[in-house]
Amino acid sequence: MNLAVLGAQWGDEGKGKIVDLLAPRFGVVARYQGGHNAGHTVYVSGQKFVLHLIPSGILHSGTTCIIGNGVVIDPNALMTEIEMLAALGIEVGQRLRISDKAHVIMPYHRDLELLAEARRGERKIGTTSRGIGPAYEDKIGRRGIRIGDLADCSLTGPLAGVVKENVAARNRLISGAEMDWQAVLGRLAASWDRLQPWVTDVSLALAEAREAGRAILFEGAQGALLDIDHGTFPYVTSSNATIGGVCTGLGVPPRAIDGVLGVVKAYTTRVGEGPLPTELTGEAGERLRESGQEYGASTGRPRRCGWFDAVAMRYAVRLNGLDALAISKLDVLDDLDEICVCTAYRREGKLLHDFPADSGVLASCEPVYETLPGWSSPTQGAQRETDLPSEARAYVARLEELAGAPAVILSTGSDRVDTILRDHAILEDWIGSSR
Ligand code: GDP
Ligand code: IMO
Ligand code: MG
Repeated sequence: MNLAVLGAQWGDEGKGKIVDLLAPRFGVVARYQGGHNAGHTVYVSGQKFVLHLIPSGILHSGTTCIIGNGVVIDPNALMTEIEMLAALGIEVGQRLRISDKAHVIMPYHRDLELLAEARRGERKIGTTSRGIGPAYEDKIGRRGIRIGDLADCSLTGPLAGVVKENVAARNRLISGAEMDWQAVLGRLAASWDRLQPWVTDVSLALAEAREAGRAILFEGAQGALLDIDHGTFPYVTSSNATIGGVCTGLGVPPRAIDGVLGVVKAYTTRVGEGPLPTELTGEAGERLRESGQEYGASTGRPRRCGWFDAVAMRYAVRLNGLDALAISKLDVLDDLDEICVCTAYRREGKLLHDFPADSGVLASCEPVYETLPGWSSPTQGAQRETDLPSEARAYVARLEELAGAPAVILSTGSDRVDTILRDHAILEDWIGSSR
């Protein structure tokens, strides 16, 4: 069985933890979109790993990790990550594969992003400043540079021409220090020397893995509501974080996806600008941020926090065909007397049950809340369903009902072991025995 695991909110749902947990049941873990704007955190016995580009299966020695054509790669960020892993005792070795068709994030992409954000002023997106948007712009504009192009970094080759043109365009837009295209080309040549052993035809590698009976886990970055097409445009990232990204971002057919698992927090967070109907400003939001340690894994920015939004959740279920959910950070709600869940929006006196992706409309929606009781004992670290207080089980049951999908995994802490794999037929199908 091949399984897609993706974010069903605005990113940072805990995908890294869930992918790491499930990875031993799969031979291959593949990233299909995004870049090092992602920060996927895994804790193992108190040791912290933050993965940005490398799939979160890398901590398991039997897992092949694939970076697909849909990902945009900053070669320096990738090498830094490989070195960081080595320093923590994880050798990437032969287990990494990088698509020759993945586009490269160039040094001028970051400059262009900073310029675009500054020009937007009040309307800024609040991006991660990693060069993600401009790299995807160049891909769509057909002037992007692909990893495979780095094989010929000669001063007279076709790559040199593209680099020269793109750097000249950057220099026209940005005053101050000029970028030297030959120096840029030289750095690409050095990157190729290091990356080349891992570069391959990823679509073919995945087809061969399937033929050999190796199960594949597709790891999403960001989340459904940050999707370039279906998210809260323009406050989104520049790739398809919804399920279609798997096929286009890896070169696999839709029938290769046997199941779709959506990861959601037991509440909501968002980093950067854009509407967030259930946002809690003031003390209540501060409390969630502190107990959930809601600071960006990539940029360290404080995350905006709010109550669980079932309207947004149902939208993510519909967009992705989520078969099931993994609900994370249940423990962060320990100690609350009451917990609110948004079941609908109110706008101009009318009730809305369907998510309006238009940011202007969404920004004018008021959440309609249902209040549920907090729990009598903590869930922190619970590993069996029977260890959960009845109120926490009732909360999960209500989220399942509102989402229209079963929660097959519950997460009660950041460590790999702080997890409940529920006795559910879907999980049994996907990973065999859940115990
Ligand atoms: P991702 O981008 O979806 O992989 O999520 P991030 O790693 O950016 O953010 C999730 C944060 O929550 C990380 O710091 C995780 O270590 C942490 N985390 C994940 N699951 C749980 C959980 O169940 N409880 C708590 N308290 N922390 C969790
Ligand atoms: P993971 O995979 C949360 C947000 C940024 C910004 C918007 C656009 O860890 O869940 P970008 O740099 O992509 O052009 O920024 O998207 N964003 C994320 N928010 N988690 C992420 O990744 C994100 N990646 C981008 O904060 O609002
Ligand atoms: Mg993250």
